[in-house]
Formats: sequence, structure tokens, C-alpha cells
Amino acid sequence: MLLLSPRGALLSVYCPQIFLILSSGSYLALSSVVALGANIICNKIPGLAPRQRAICQSRPDAIIVIGEGAQMGINECQYQFRFGRWNCSALGEKTVFGQELRVGSREAAFTYAITAAGVAHAVTAACSQGNLSNCGCDREKQGYYNQAEGWKWGGCSADVRYGIDFSRRFVDAREIKKNARRLMNLHNNEAGRKVLEERMKLECKCHGVSGSCTTKTCWTTLPKFREVGHMLKEKYNAAVQVEVVRASRLRQPTFLRIKQLRSYQKPMETDLVYIEKSPNYCEEDAATGSVGTQGRLCNRTSLGADGCDTMCCGRGYNTHQYTKVWQCNCKFHWCCFVKCNTCSERTEVFTCK
Ligand SMILES: *[C@@H]1O[C@H](CO)[C@@H](O)[C@H](O)[C@H]1NC(C)=O
Ligand SMILES: *[C@@H]1O[C@H](CO)[C@@H](O)[C@H](O)[C@H]1NC(C)=O
Ligand SMILES: *[C@@H]1O[C@H](CO)[C@@H](O)[C@H](O)[C@H]1NC(C)=O
Repeated sequence: MLLLSPRGALLSVYCPQIFLILSSGSYLALSSVVALGANIICNKIPGLAPRQRAICQSRPDAIIVIGEGAQMGINECQYQFRFGRWNCSALGEKTVFGQELRVGSREAAFTYAITAAGVAHAVTAACSQGNLSNCGCDREKQGYYNQAEGWKWGGCSADVRYGIDFSRRFVDAREIKKNARRLMNLHNNEAGRKVLEERMKLECKCHGVSGSCTTKTCWTTLPKFREVGHMLKEKYNAAVQVEVVRASRLRQPTFLRIKQLRSYQKPMETDLVYIEKSPNYCEEDAATGSVGTQGRLCNRTSLGADGCDTMCCGRGYNTHQYTKVWQCNCKFHWCCFVKCNTCSERTEVFTCK
């Protein structure tokens, strides 16, 4: 993974002096980064499209938050797919958004959606906490009274539209090729952001003597990112295969429609879409970006995707035995010490051949 996790890790590769400043963990460092020249940093981050580099140069404070958002997306992807043959790893070119899958599969769809949502989430959160210039709380939701429901907007409403717009400008800017994959990626980016937007929450607080709620103020908050991850995992399970329609005179890919006989339907906004079937992810394969399952932990008794039969694709598994040791049966003695026994257990783990 490339950008900044833990904060400064990437920069440390390129600019040790910046790392020293950033590793103090303070956002004060950002002004120092600006002083050192956004040019230096932005030119050295690999895999940025020209428009992304321009955004990086004009908003060096945002690039750190973008990196954290992309990393949050990758972490969530690894969590959601921890029991799968595909565990969110890929061979191939490293970018800000991790490594990219070459095949336009439903797995690629998931990674695009989750990183676009991650960037929107991180930018929105940073705005609410006053960590970014040019944004803050949602100003449209201030002071307005909701007569029908008897509450008014108060506190700090998360400005998710700003975060989404920022994600759209930055994440979508990497789609520079005019091909079917571009349409697929843009659709999935948008689906991820839409799912985030739909999970925004309303929080309220009552005011008045002993909680009598004579007045009530409400504000919008971001959902936990885990919730977005679960939702997108469901979308992944129900992902829709699409094909590209070349409608213009130049026969350029123009829009996507659901791939079915005699279907002229477009996918829904929040559908994850894919244009190619997934490889089985059993073996390492540079052509598909699959890293294979050799060496993966598997569960000998599970019948699910993490079971050794499925995970190891019939190649069999190795058994590793070890002894787990821990303190047990601890008793408190008067006065004052604790005495424990040492317990141990032989344990086995299994890894794919
Ligand atoms: C905002 O900045 C503070 C102080 O540096 C930091 O602790 C916090 O994690 C940041 N919040 C976000 C959402 O980036
Ligand atoms: C995913 O699987 C690969 C291949 O077995 C392994 O090298 C990698 O560490 C795994 N990643 C995670 C996050 O578990
Ligand atoms: C293996 O799978 C079984 C059955 O699904 C489950 O009960 C058990 O807890 C799993 N073991 C590990 C180590 O995850």
C-alpha cells in the first residue's frame, strides 16, 4: 500500500526530513509540508494521473487525508474478504489506492467502490474536525427549523456532499482511458459514494429541564465505515454483469447496460457492476493479478470459503503444530498477590500447499 499508513510512511521513503516533521503526529506539520514544497511530494507519489497531481499540488493538506481514506478502504476490503480466496491482494502496479486488478471483475468493482467511499468518508470527517481548509460543517444545515418534526438543525452536521464531491474530483480523475473499464470504474466509484451517502445518520439531542425535550437539535453524522463495508459486501454478492454500449458516431463506449438477452436496462446507481468473469484466484497469475492461495491459513473443518478444500483449490494443506502457553487459574491471595498456573495446549494450524 502506498500512501501514508502510518502517517508519513510513504513520505519517509522519499523525503526523510518531511517524515521527521510528520512523525510528530501533528497536523501543524502540514504547514511545514507546504513550506517544503508540495511539488516535491506530489511529483514523487507514483501512479497519480495528471489531474490528481494538480489537485495534490493545490491541496497538499488534502492529499494526506485522501491517503488515509484510501487506506481505510483497503483495510475494510481486507476485513470483508479475510475468509475468501481473494483476500483483497493483487499483483501489479502500486498506486495510491493499493494494487489494481487487471480484470474487470466483481472484485475490482468492490475495490473501486470501497476506496471511493473511503476517500469521501475521510475527507468529510476531516472537514467536520476542522482539519482541512476550504470546508467545515454543513452550513446549509445551520439554524434551519424543521417545523413538521419539531426540531432544528444544530451542532456540526457532516458535510458529506463536500466529501463526495472531493472524492469524485480526485478518485475519478484516474480514469483517463476511454474504454469500457473506465465506465465500469466510474460507475462503481459512484456506487460506493452513494452507499455512504445513504447511510448518513441523524443524531438528535434534547434540551430543557430534566430532559423534557422542549427543544430538540439534530445534526447529520457519518456512519461507521464498517457499516459501509458490510453494505458494499452485499452489493458485491449481488453484483451485476454489464456490457458497454457504443452509441456515439465515433463508437466510443457511452454507457453500460445489464448483460442479458433482450435486456436494455441500465444498472441501478448503487449496483456494483463488472464486465468480466472473475478468475478463480487459486494460482498466482500475473495476467489476472491473482496472488493465489498458497500459504493462506485455512480451516480444516469449515465447509465455507475458508475451509481447506475450497481455499486450497484441492492442492491440499500443510499442518503446523505448536504449543500455546498462557496463564490460567489465577487466584488472589490475602494479602496481596496473585498466583497463577501455566496452562498449555497443543494447537494446529493449516496452510494451503
Ligand atoms: C484531525 O486532526 C487531529 C489533530 O491532529 C487528529 O487527531 C484527528 O485524527 C484528525 N481527524 C481526521 C478525521 O483526520
Ligand atoms: C492475502 O493472501 C496473500 C497470498 O497468500 C498473502 O501473501 C497476504 O499476506 C494476504 N493478505 C492479507 C491482508 O491477509
Ligand atoms: C473452523 O470452522 C469451524 C466450523 O465452521 C468453526 O467452528 C471453528 O471455530 C473454525 N476454527 C477456526 C480456528 O476458525
